[in-house]
Amino acid sequence: MKIVVTGGAGFIGSNFVRYLYRERPSWHIAVYDKLTYAGDKRNLEGLDGDRVHLIEADICDEQKIDRAVADCDMVVHFAAESHNDNSLHSPWPFVETNLVGTFRILEAVRKHNKRLHHVSTDEVYGDLALDDPAKFTPDTPYNPSSPYSSTKAGSDLLVRAWVRSFGIQATISNCSNNYGPYQHVEKFIPRQITEILDGRRPKLYGSGENVRDWIHTEDHSSGVLAIVEHGRSGETYLIGANGEKSNKEVVELILELMGKDPKDYECVNDRPGHDLRYAIDTTTLHDELGWSPIYTDFRRGLSKTIDWYRQNESWWRLQKAETEAKYQEIGR
Ligand code: NAD
Ligand code: DAU
Repeated sequence: MKIVVTGGAGFIGSNFVRYLYRERPSWHIAVYDKLTYAGDKRNLEGLDGDRVHLIEADICDEQKIDRAVADCDMVVHFAAESHNDNSLHSPWPFVETNLVGTFRILEAVRKHNKRLHHVSTDEVYGDLALDDPAKFTPDTPYNPSSPYSSTKAGSDLLVRAWVRSFGIQATISNCSNNYGPYQHVEKFIPRQITEILDGRRPKLYGSGENVRDWIHTEDHSSGVLAIVEHGRSGETYLIGANGEKSNKEVVELILELMGKDPKDYECVNDRPGHDLRYAIDTTTLHDELGWSPIYTDFRRGLSKTIDWYRQNESWWRLQKAETEAKYQEIGR
């Protein structure tokens, strides 16, 4: 099996590449990545170059993506602009990469008759009230809120249309919030850990009541692999780990695990249009493919993640100042 992993030098993509490398030793992996501010070659350090190679290119580049797709058996598509706050400040790269880039991949997959798995997000469904007993299912209507989530929703719809109109072989997964090693410090959990390591207070948007459904990135990887190997073409699978927590609860737990006063955080300006709550119903993935998460103890997963950031300061140090300067500009 020769697989192209777009966005394989980013957070979830590189964790997936490492997971595949370990779990499927006979597979060859081509990481196709533009290496934006969110991609880092170091995320692939230590992997044997005979089994994993990097194609440094843009998914919007028609010729380059065509060549990479022609030369593989299947594509797993993680590449995206992924941060909501950035999308509010500068939406164009989201439209270009998430919509045009996915279009380019679909056309290449159609031309060369290759299988595609498209990685998406639970944010396409909008948000839920805090007391709503419902969770997102594959039948929940799309209702995205931000430039990021609307371009991801658009990319999902493109995939569905290419399946129906052109008969391409494709699956989609919509996953909840990931945490774990190699996550950029712009994101919530690594930002708070590194703020504390730098002697500053964690920053909660608004009152911190917003709820996210946390999943360890390793569980996301096993879910994607299950779909790649056993998913039905044309299906959408939701991936989550029953990990609902308010942002306030998460910040308090990080502070406690790092030996600080759990109340020692500050509330900053809220994100415009901030989604209130996400929650995933994983029945299809569980019943149809027999998948379940391993990292069911959030405290333990978070503690391991904190250890990783403590031990890998050289990995995040360069991103940190630039990221905080951006947050300073927008008052968060
Ligand atoms: P990330 O921002 O950490 O990584 C994105 C990667 O894509 C980077 O390596 C970047 O260099 C690459 N990339 C960006 N634009 C590109 C382009 N035009 N051409 C080629 N490569 C490009 O993102 P992430 O958090 O790892 O998310 C990966 C995927 O998973 C995204 O599709 C995202 O929507 C989805 N997702 C993320 C989460 C989450 O919690 N982070 C949850 C569900 C789904
Ligand atoms: O649900 C899946 C999505 O999860 C993915 O599709 C996105 O790519 C990923 O970035 C993530 O989106 P969120 O917007 O939920 O993640 P973020 O880490 O930016 O923020 C998580 C929550 O924490 C959100 O409610 C905003 C809040 N927050 C964030 C930051 C950076 C804070 O309270 N303080 C912060 O400093």
